[in-house]
Amino acid sequence: MTDKLDEFVENLQQQIFDETREAFGEAGFQRWRNPLYRGPLADADSHARVTGECGDTMEIFLKFKENRVCDAAYLTDGCGSSTVCGSFAAEMAIGRTPDELTDITGDAVLEKLGNFPEEDRHCAFLAAATVQEALNLYMNNIVSEK
Ligand code: FES
Repeated sequence: MTDKLDEFVENLQQQIFDETREAFGEAGFQRWRNPLYRGPLADADSHARVTGECGDTMEIFLKFKENRVCDAAYLTDGCGSSTVCGSFAAEMAIGRTPDELTDITGDAVLEKLGNFPEEDRHCAFLAAATVQEALNLYMNNIVSEK
């Protein structure tokens, strides 16, 4: 009985893995299994929270050193797709100057992913919009400190 249950669970897990790999592509699948850069980031210089039209919320944390992002993280209460997109958006932010951060668009996140389900593409745009909001807040802070 236990063997049968184990086998059932194993098959089910394999099926979920296969379907997710097919939907997200290899890079997205690996990131879904191991969502790097999950926050929060306690000593962030900027933190933005944006809620998408789907009702999910994305948070992005940025830490700067010498005018470049030295660390970044994301948090989301959304689905696996928003986790993958938040993780890639945070990764893409690391090492960039404020000016270079503006290149992180929804299309850029999708390009990094390779392939992604059509119905989940908005998750990439939410992640990118949250990076841009974190950048805005950071720049406003710098201006108001001057
Ligand atoms: Fe809402 Fe992905 S489904 S951000």
